[in-house]
Amino acid sequence: MSGNKDSDGGWRSFLWNSEKKEFLGRTGGSWFKIFLFYVIFYGCLAGIFVGTIQAMLLTLSNYKPTYQDRVAPPGLSHTPCSEKSEISFNKSDPKSYDKYVVSMKKFLDKYNDTEQGDIKKFEDCGDDARPYKDRGNLLDNEKEKRKACRFFRSWLDTCSGESNNDFGFPEGKPCLIVKLNRIVNFRPKAPSSNQTLPEALQAKSNPNLIPIYCKNKKDEDEGKIGEIKYFGHSNGAGFPLQYYPYYGKLLHPDYLQPLVAIQFTNLTLNTELRIECKVYGDNIKYSEKDRYQGRFDVKITVTS
Ligand SMILES: *[C@@H]1O[C@H](CO)[C@@H](O)[C@H](O)[C@H]1NC(C)=O
Ligand SMILES: *[C@@H]1O[C@H](CO)[C@@H](O)[C@H](O)[C@H]1NC(C)=O
Ligand SMILES: *[C@@H]1O[C@H](CO)[C@@H](O)[C@H](O)[C@H]1NC(C)=O
Ligand SMILES: *[C@@H]1O[C@H](CO)[C@@H](O)[C@H](O)[C@H]1NC(C)=O
Repeated sequence: MSGNKDSDGGWRSFLWNSEKKEFLGRTGGSWFKIFLFYVIFYGCLAGIFVGTIQAMLLTLSNYKPTYQDRVAPPGLSHTPCSEKSEISFNKSDPKSYDKYVVSMKKFLDKYNDTEQGDIKKFEDCGDDARPYKDRGNLLDNEKEKRKACRFFRSWLDTCSGESNNDFGFPEGKPCLIVKLNRIVNFRPKAPSSNQTLPEALQAKSNPNLIPIYCKNKKDEDEGKIGEIKYFGHSNGAGFPLQYYPYYGKLLHPDYLQPLVAIQFTNLTLNTELRIECKVYGDNIKYSEKDRYQGRFDVKITVTS
């Protein structure tokens, strides 16, 4: 194949041998066959690549997560929140709590009555705690959008931020708004026994409710937290089960998470107080590593 070493042309005739009509030692037909071979060869490689990806995509659903084991216990989150979970303000200085009020108003905007008027998207699910509201299976061939249960902002009472009450900050009685983070297809289970609950909740246990309870985190703050009030569905006792399961962003675009507002009505002033809130349920777990799994704690300092 490599050209005519004996002829005078040297490598020049190797480049183009006009006698044999060879370019770089090959005829046009031979080059064409090589070209064709590589086209088919790479074509097949690309086909295998695309085929495997397609096959994998077929096993994924737009509606239901394929692997969900890591996220199952839900997080408990609160508004307002800050990086170090510290809420600190001077009740006589509106500038010091404005950012909290603004973030709470923004968060609650979608809970306005005016946003929940559309009867094709929302329905009333009762104001007592009820069992899960089943809206069919999470199957691909059932693509119709699911209705969301209404959650009225006015249930949050003095923590609703309506009529500009500024969530109690000016009186030194701040509110926190708490929600369980949404997890597609998750059904939180109410506590099956009242033995695992804090004493204050034991008599009130309800089979259709995930109760929430807050108390001082450190023993030395005992007696400094004062009365804690809870507002929301079921008089603020917790998260009612008829708001579950959540069907995901595509099937349940208008879903509203149930909320509980917590108001600290008699906090000791000028002291950093550490408060822990926890939800209770048979499939709600707490983790050493994740400070927001099923619980949170927050440091609150009110000055005057
Ligand atoms: C709180 O704000 C008031 C009014 O601005 C001010 O007089 C007071 O010194 C502030 N207190 C603290 C602890 O900063
Ligand atoms: C929701 O209601 C509050 C107070 O009632 C109001 O200030 C706010 O503008 C409303 N938001 C929307 C999006 O309608
Ligand atoms: C715990 O629940 C049982 C029934 O489930 C009830 O009889 C009992 O009074 C409850 N305990 C308390 C302390 O309320
Ligand atoms: C607020 O707490 C103090 C003790 O820190 C107590 O003396 C007072 O009675 C409480 N006020 C109310 C309204 O509960």
